[in-house]
Amino acid sequence: MDEFRAIILAAGKGTRMKSELPKVLHKVAGKPVLQYVLDIAKYLRSLKTYVVVGHKSELVATYVGDRAEVVIQKQLLGTADAVRSVVPQLIGYKGHVIILCGDTPLLDKDIIRRLIRKHLKTKVACTVLTAQIPDAGSYGRIIRDSNNGIAAIREFKDASFEEVGINEINVGVYCFQSQLLTETLKQVKLNPNKKEFYLTDIVELLLSQGHKVETLVTDDPNVAFGVNTREDLALCESILRQRITKRLMLEGVTIVDPKTTFIDDDVKIGRDTVIYPFTVIHGGVKIGSECTIGPFARLRPGTVIGNRVEVGNFGEISRSKIAGGTVMKHFGFIGDAHIGENVNIGAGCVTANYDGVEKSKTLIGDQAFIGSDSILVAPVVVGSGAMVGAGSVVTKGKKIPPGGLAVGVPARVFSKEFVKIRQKKV
Ligand code: UD1
Ligand code: CA
Repeated sequence: MDEFRAIILAAGKGTRMKSELPKVLHKVAGKPVLQYVLDIAKYLRSLKTYVVVGHKSELVATYVGDRAEVVIQKQLLGTADAVRSVVPQLIGYKGHVIILCGDTPLLDKDIIRRLIRKHLKTKVACTVLTAQIPDAGSYGRIIRDSNNGIAAIREFKDASFEEVGINEINVGVYCFQSQLLTETLKQVKLNPNKKEFYLTDIVELLLSQGHKVETLVTDDPNVAFGVNTREDLALCESILRQRITKRLMLEGVTIVDPKTTFIDDDVKIGRDTVIYPFTVIHGGVKIGSECTIGPFARLRPGTVIGNRVEVGNFGEISRSKIAGGTVMKHFGFIGDAHIGENVNIGAGCVTANYDGVEKSKTLIGDQAFIGSDSILVAPVVVGSGAMVGAGSVVTKGKKIPPGGLAVGVPARVFSKEFVKIRQKKV
């Protein structure tokens, strides 16, 4: 593919969210709205990605960090002005640019790839992504000429009665030849109705100068979906969750009731694992094959689970590694732990990983048996094959040797040899 760069427009205020947090940083299916668009730019292997942020949006700039280059739009004077703020970065660049909006997490990466392919193949000045949707709402309308070519994009506020009836809309995603874009941007005039510079005016300007503009039409109603309100955020969440559970089921995971299963983006689950209802699995969690998870389990970030692991009802696991065959069938909390293979974790077991100042680790070896209702006050090491008696409190810094035993409150620790002698006597 030819060289291209991405521009993500994200300077809008997001007033209707009624929030202190910028709109694009609100999370949907576990990830900020903006991250979905950044992921698309990455997927497309954009050589350079610019995120246009408003002049007060330090929070967005901080989030973007080294994920992309932040460009500040000093005053919010419309979409053409937002792109203009990137022009200094494009001096001397002869490739193509794709423009995306930062508040559209449902954009489909394959459609965008098709848009770029078409743009590069037809070698036109600009290619616009459009969608045929039943309710065109306040989107810009696509005006076609007698040959069915695109003639203009008319903003809802400026549209005539007939134009409002058009169902083909501007998604807000465009490919441009970079140099034509920067030249034509200079000619965009302030829109008298909205007192903004419209990027959409560029289509007519390019056509009037004899350049060609193409479109790629989709009938996916979600592609243009932008998050403007909390209601949009919730709707977006349910669409994304549906996509995520569908993908996992296609990959061989049983999800007993997708409607009551909440799995973030970027979760990996192996084949023949069964997820029972009311389970929450956060971003980045990895689960092996043939596990059973839930009902009512919560797996938090940093959790990696091997094959044939069982996590039952009201089990919560955070920042922990759990090896194959280990079971935690009933309620309890495992945090900052490394747990070996075939470990039994009894009902109500808690790793007390936080002492109010810092978090500490719990290490449990293979084949260990942790009795019900026990508390392991981290840092604690439970050797392989060791046992913790039911109701014990293993205090900070204790190391139970392999095959040993800890029992009582506070727990007394016995060696493997001691346990053997005791067993002989009985
Ligand atoms: C825009 C399009 C419209 C299209 C719709 C798709 C224009 C004039 N209209 O309308 O045809 O159907 O998107 O969603 O472009 N932004 C800035 N700086 C600004 C203004 C906006 O960065 O000064 C960003 C916003 O954060 C947003 C994007 O540009 O991510 C689109 O702006 P918005 O005001 O939402 O445009 P629409 O009125 O929805
Ligand atoms: Ca919008």
